[in-house]
Amino acid sequence: MSDYSAMTPEEVRTLRDQLDAQGKKLVFTNGCFDLLHAGHVRYLNEARELGDAMVVALNSDASVRELKGPSRPINHEQDRAEVMAALRAVDAVVIFGDKRATSLIETIRPHIYAKGGDYTVDSLNPEERAALESVGAAVRILPLVPGRSTTQTLQRMTGEGAGDQLRIGVLGSGEGSNFRAILDAISSGALKAEISVAISDQADSRFLQIAREAGISAQHVDGGENPRRFSDAAQKEIAEHLQRARVDLVVLIGFMRILKEPTLTIYQDRIVNVHPSLLPKFKGANAPQLAIEAGESETGCTVHLVTAEIDAGRILAQARVPIQSGDTPDSLHARIKKEEHKLLPQVLAEWKK
Ligand code: GAR
Repeated sequence: MSDYSAMTPEEVRTLRDQLDAQGKKLVFTNGCFDLLHAGHVRYLNEARELGDAMVVALNSDASVRELKGPSRPINHEQDRAEVMAALRAVDAVVIFGDKRATSLIETIRPHIYAKGGDYTVDSLNPEERAALESVGAAVRILPLVPGRSTTQTLQRMTGEGAGDQLRIGVLGSGEGSNFRAILDAISSGALKAEISVAISDQADSRFLQIAREAGISAQHVDGGENPRRFSDAAQKEIAEHLQRARVDLVVLIGFMRILKEPTLTIYQDRIVNVHPSLLPKFKGANAPQLAIEAGESETGCTVHLVTAEIDAGRILAQARVPIQSGDTPDSLHARIKKEEHKLLPQVLAEWKK
């Protein structure tokens, strides 16, 4: 029998008042935590650093079922509370039965409210946000730990997706709209694959941010001085990231450096690129602008295999996009991207491992 019993909200409030009297701060966070993993532990350690003591509110079994479906929670509330309370970062645990933590926040009146990074202040539940504002709690969103999530842990445990699932490594430098389209195709079930790693030469790119938000391993590789080329060390690092992530297929999406050895040989015929023109026309950078300048009436996008010669590997699929009078490179590129967002996931869905 467990000798641990969770605190009541009133007991936590007493703890909060004691801290307050000493000028100390109570951190509050809440969640299901039904399969504790290293991502949780790191998040909780960081959250605890924000104040002097921390209370974790655990969703009761009934509320986890309501939030996550009938197969959850994995572990029952008493066990979850006991494991949670054993963590160094955690001073108190409460169990709550509502889907929202609103009334708990009102009772406990925490000084600081911490939440994992798949939220923004704006995406917090409006009720919870109002309760936090009314008790004067400071809201702190902490970054997610890449590659650590309950879903991924469960997939590994159940073998779901193991073996037959296509593992994709993506490389990009910019906005990541194609990356998002791939993730959407995976979520909708149209593409049976997983993104095992996302690599970028741009540390602050939206591309890497998307990966982090999705809990995907996000790797920045410093490419060196020349913006179009990659140092040999960086080339090697890319191959290492891809191999470490056991990638089957490499997808370049707006990756503005030239990919070279050793990746080209290791992943021969297993690297695809999306390019905003009907190749072989308009290779290289600024393809939409070149198409307009050439007076073309249509252009499009191409998904092709990557070889040492730029934008010259075997063409896998193309989609056409008419050029309209008054098109600017940006307006045209935006319409081309819409086609890319359909074409690229289709090609990946047909890829045979
Ligand atoms: C895409 O349009 C892709 O075709 C292009 O960069 C864009 C990336 O957009 N690639 C090239 O021009 C490569 N020569 P995204 O970051 O929004 O997916």
